[in-house]
Amino acid sequence: MSLHNEKIIILDFGSQTTQLIARRIREQKVYSEIHPYTLELEKLKAMRPTGIVLSGGPASVYDEDAPISDPGLFELGVPVLGICYGAQLMIQQLGGRVENAEKREFGKAELNIEYTAGLFAGMETAPSHYQVWMSHGDRIEEVAPGFVATATSGHSPFAALRHEQKPFVAVQFHPEVAHTLIGNDVLRNFIFGLCGCNPNWTMHSFIDSTVAEIKAKVGDGKVLCALSGGVDSSVTAALVHKAIGDQLTCIYVNNGLMRTGESESVLRFFREKTDLHVIDIDAADHFLDELAGIEDPEEKRKRIGYGFIKIFEEEANKLGSVKYLAQGTLYPDVIESVVFRGKAPIKSHHNVGGLPERMQLELIEPLRELFKDEVRELGLELGMPEEAIFRQPFPGPGLGIRIMGEVTAERLNILRQSDVIVLEEMKDSGWYRKVWQSFAVLLPIQTVGVMGDGRTYEHVLALRSVDSRDAMTADWSKLPYDLLGRISNRIINEVRGVNRVVYDISSKPPATIEWE
Ligand code: XMP
Repeated sequence: MSLHNEKIIILDFGSQTTQLIARRIREQKVYSEIHPYTLELEKLKAMRPTGIVLSGGPASVYDEDAPISDPGLFELGVPVLGICYGAQLMIQQLGGRVENAEKREFGKAELNIEYTAGLFAGMETAPSHYQVWMSHGDRIEEVAPGFVATATSGHSPFAALRHEQKPFVAVQFHPEVAHTLIGNDVLRNFIFGLCGCNPNWTMHSFIDSTVAEIKAKVGDGKVLCALSGGVDSSVTAALVHKAIGDQLTCIYVNNGLMRTGESESVLRFFREKTDLHVIDIDAADHFLDELAGIEDPEEKRKRIGYGFIKIFEEEANKLGSVKYLAQGTLYPDVIESVVFRGKAPIKSHHNVGGLPERMQLELIEPLRELFKDEVRELGLELGMPEEAIFRQPFPGPGLGIRIMGEVTAERLNILRQSDVIVLEEMKDSGWYRKVWQSFAVLLPIQTVGVMGDGRTYEHVLALRSVDSRDAMTADWSKLPYDLLGRISNRIINEVRGVNRVVYDISSKPPATIEWE
């Protein structure tokens, strides 16, 4: 259901940086989407790509079970850019030879350009050289017929190639990563120079096309939207509302796992600052009953999910004949679930999983092509206030996944009081908007401390603060020591039942952002 006229299709061969290719292209205001390399030729053709990118990947093209895309894509008359594995695959499929390199090339390398047109338009030949980022153990030994080298590197006479008659280009380095200083220029030369795209994919055009799509799909049907107050669901609701107005009903459920004052402030915001029709349901007791005695994180997620489903069913029945459910699913959720990666899901899905099938609702997911920072841009473009847009993400299952072990009213109380302090201190110090997320986690252990003259045996809180661009990867935030000290001090002094605060210094991967 895409109305994007010009688009670059990226075929993913499993590189860690495939998503970055899409982002870098979109930053140039050209629409781009990622598909698994197994995409059938007919489907690829039907998408009418303006250009195709073959991503990098961990395999070797000469492996028996190497991932291979349909070579028919070279017959579509569409420009193709191969990156790293994608470059080797292109050369091999078109008749060249790739072998295991004696010397592998990982990290920074120097690129000497020999041809200053095509991908390297605007750049210079030696003695100038350019820093690029490489990550490969194989190299092209023999080019395919029609190809010539356009750049070399210390370890490879074929660091970049072009076909002399056809619009096929290949680079052994990764233009999408920041360490490749000419990366954006190379991608720009591909999308504008070789593919002839125009930079007209903006949030404004996205709103126009998405509103038209939603209108056409929904007609005069009714749509439900679960509103959490978070950025994704709020922007989804605003966008759907722009398309169909009062045919949209939003439901806000207080599941008893929200932060202090959260339900009140979310509802106040929507009632005072928007035209959305919001029903609010207070189901705190119900959720807490369901969670009694449950320690397993996945079981908690399931029970919370089912709790939402039940409430939704009841409310939908009251409204009568609801046909659609609007959800704020984002692009990383969609591509993380690409089947070919063959990995088990890390955790039960974020959104109101199970709801659509059970209620036979059709999904409307207007953000499913966007990254989080694009959603924020969209929200601003829709006129939403910054306070709603620049909130840190908060998970659907709420504080339920930030309490390790059983969720009880008493433990929720401890976490809530600590969480308020973390938020206050992060905001007062100006760090709240500098980090991706910052929050407290209640651990299932007690440790010994000393307060006044007496021994204590109380709870431990972990502080988690991470920097990230889209939650796919994250690193722990280097918060100033005095800020960490202040947070710890205040929590231990002000929150009854806590005598120790620790700071989580793990990155994702291998850890995750939430503890669960
Ligand atoms: P993890 O823990 O997987 O979290 O590194 C990545 C991001 O997703 C958020 N998160 C959720 N958001 N429903 C949501 O809406 C969920 O069930 C959920 N679980 C994790 C998490 O806060 C982080 O921003």
